[in-house]
Amino acid sequence: MPLSRTALETTFNGRTIFESAKYPNEPPLRLISVPIIYRGNLLYIVQVGTSMESIEEILRRFLILLIVAMPIALAVSLAAGWFLAGRALRPVDAITLAAQRIAAGDLSQRLTMSTTPDEIGRLAGMFNDMIGRLDASFRQIRQFTSDASHELRTPLTVMKGETELVLRRPRPLEDYQSVLESNLEEIDRMTHIVDELLFLSRADMGEVKMELVPVALESLVEDIHRQATLLGQDRNIEVMLGTVMPAMVQGDELRLRELLLNLVENAVKYSRPGGKVEIGLVTDGQQAILSVTDQGIGIAPKDHQRIFDRFFRTDEARAHTKKGTGLGLAICSWIAESHRGRINVQSDMGQGSTFTVALPLAPRSA
Ligand SMILES: Nc1ncnc2c1ncn2[C@@H]1O[C@H](COP(=O)(O)OP(=O)(O)OP(=O)(O)O)[C@@H](O)[C@H]1O
Ligand SMILES: [Mg+2]
Repeated sequence: MPLSRTALETTFNGRTIFESAKYPNEPPLRLISVPIIYRGNLLYIVQVGTSMESIEEILRRFLILLIVAMPIALAVSLAAGWFLAGRALRPVDAITLAAQRIAAGDLSQRLTMSTTPDEIGRLAGMFNDMIGRLDASFRQIRQFTSDASHELRTPLTVMKGETELVLRRPRPLEDYQSVLESNLEEIDRMTHIVDELLFLSRADMGEVKMELVPVALESLVEDIHRQATLLGQDRNIEVMLGTVMPAMVQGDELRLRELLLNLVENAVKYSRPGGKVEIGLVTDGQQAILSVTDQGIGIAPKDHQRIFDRFFRTDEARAHTKKGTGLGLAICSWIAESHRGRINVQSDMGQGSTFTVALPLAPRSA
C-alpha cells in the first residue's frame, strides 16, 4: 500500500497516525502507521489496515432506516401531540363555554370537573370561587335593592292610605291637620332612610371624606351621655357612665359621634322600660375601647354577624319595636373599619347586649 505524505511526515517525527483511505476498486480502509525507532533512528514503519466495508454497510442501512422511520415517527408524534393537546385543552373549552353562559347572565353556573391539583384544576377552582363571589355580591345587591324599595314603600303606602281616606268626603280642619302631621312623620322617616342609603352607597364608592384629626373620646362620650339621657326618659331608661378614661384617637369627630350615638340609640331602643344602659371608655395597650351595655332583649348567637348587614333586623327587634330600618349598625361598622377599628357584640338572649368598638389610639407626639 502506498504510504501517504502525512503518514510519512508523522511517523518520521516518531508519532503513530490513523488514516482512512480509499483506492479505486477496493473497499474503504482504515489504516494505522506505527514508527519503529531503535536508538533514536527510524528503522521501519509498520502499516496495518482493515476493511471498513461491514461498518459502511451498517451505516448505509442505518441511513435507510432513518429515511423511512423519521417521517413515520414525526407523523406519530404529531398525532399524539394533537391528541394530548386536545385532551389537555378540553377543560379550557369547558371554561370558555361556562364563561359564555355566565356572560349571558347565569351566575349559578359552575365548572364541574375533577379537582385535580394541576394547572387546569387550579384555574377551574379559582374560576368557581370567582363566580361564587360575584354571585354572592349580585345577590346582595338585588336583596339590598328589594329591601330598600320595601322600606320606602311602607311609609308611602301609609301616606297614600291616610290621604285617600281623609279626602273621601269633607272633614273638619283638625282631621286634615292630623293627616298632614302623620304624613310629615312618614316623610321624615323616608328622608332618614334615603340619607342613610345615600351615605352607605357613597361609602361603597369611596366618596365619603374622612377628616383625620385628634379626637378626645372621653369628651365625646360625656356629650353623648348627656344627649342619651333624654332619649331614655319617657320609658324610664337610665343611661349611665361607667369607667371613662381619657383616650385620643385620630379620626372624624362627626362620624365617631354618629357611631356612638347609633349604639346608644339601639341600647335604649332595645331596652325594656326601667332598664339601664351603660357607656364606658377604657384604654388597652394601643387601643381605645368604647362599650355600650344594655339589659334589653339581647341577640341570638346566630344573628351576631348578621345584625351588621344592611336592613337586617332580628325577629325579636321587630316584635319589640316597629321603629328602625336596620341600617344603623351597617353604618357603625363602616365607620369603625374606616378608622382601622373593629366593632364587636356580646349578647345573651333576653339578658342584654354589649357592643364594643376598638379604635387604635393616636400616636402620642413627643
Ligand atoms: N342593643 C341591642 N339589643 C338587641 N338587639 C340589637 C341591639 N342593637 C342592635 N340590635 C339588633 O340589630 C339589628 C340591627 O341594628 P341597626 O341599628 O342596624 O338597625 P335598627 O336599630 O333596627 O334600625 P336603624 O336603622 O334605625 O338603626 C336591630 O334591628 C336589632 O335586631
Ligand atoms: Mg339602630
